[in-house]
Amino acid sequence: PPLRPFQITFDAATAVVDPAGPVLTRRMADLEGLFRDQRAWQELRGSEKVVYSVHSSPVPETPRELPQSITTISPGELSGELFMTKGHQHPDPQGEIYLGLTGTGGLLLFDGAEHAWLDMSPGTIGYIPPGWAHRSVNVSADEPYRFLAVYPGSAGHDYQWVLDHGMGARAVRLGDAFELVPYGG
Ligand code: PA5
Ligand code: NI
Repeated sequence: PPLRPFQITFDAATAVVDPAGPVLTRRMADLEGLFRDQRAWQELRGSEKVVYSVHSSPVPETPRELPQSITTISPGELSGELFMTKGHQHPDPQGEIYLGLTGTGGLLLFDGAEHAWLDMSPGTIGYIPPGWAHRSVNVSADEPYRFLAVYPGSAGHDYQWVLDHGMGARAVRLGDAFELVPYGG
């Protein structure tokens, strides 16, 4: 049955969405093949530490709907590489928007040839054009980075694309700041 109009409240401090949809929790074991230092990843793959979580609203991922979710990335790094989402490409190339809620982060985009980086903080809207794979990164050493995503329900998530093509660059701690280094480097 089609959805009726409804209101969703969210708490920017806790990411709790009401009414709630699915909640996803990603730990090191869920990020296989993504960090540069695979040896360090192997050592931590059993860790209970949550790298990021995704709280979705009940709007379904079906054509014409506009699902939303709030992602929270913990502060942290693996051999200098900042905590990040897996990253994905939309199999049906469609745009998406992110809105920064708390903390500071970045949106790394890659179209298979060129990468781009958008600094994200509370109030920033990051636009993801169709055809650009996207990954989020927490650039703060001590604060979670949290953002809202709104995307077409028919876009889908292709995670294999990132394993096959990379993301063009990696975000690595550099003193109190960070730098982008080549994906393979
Ligand atoms: O729709 C999006 O792009 C986001 O909600 C992401 O799915 C979320 O940030 C988690 O990242 P990933 O799906 O790459 O694990
Ligand atoms: Ni997406």
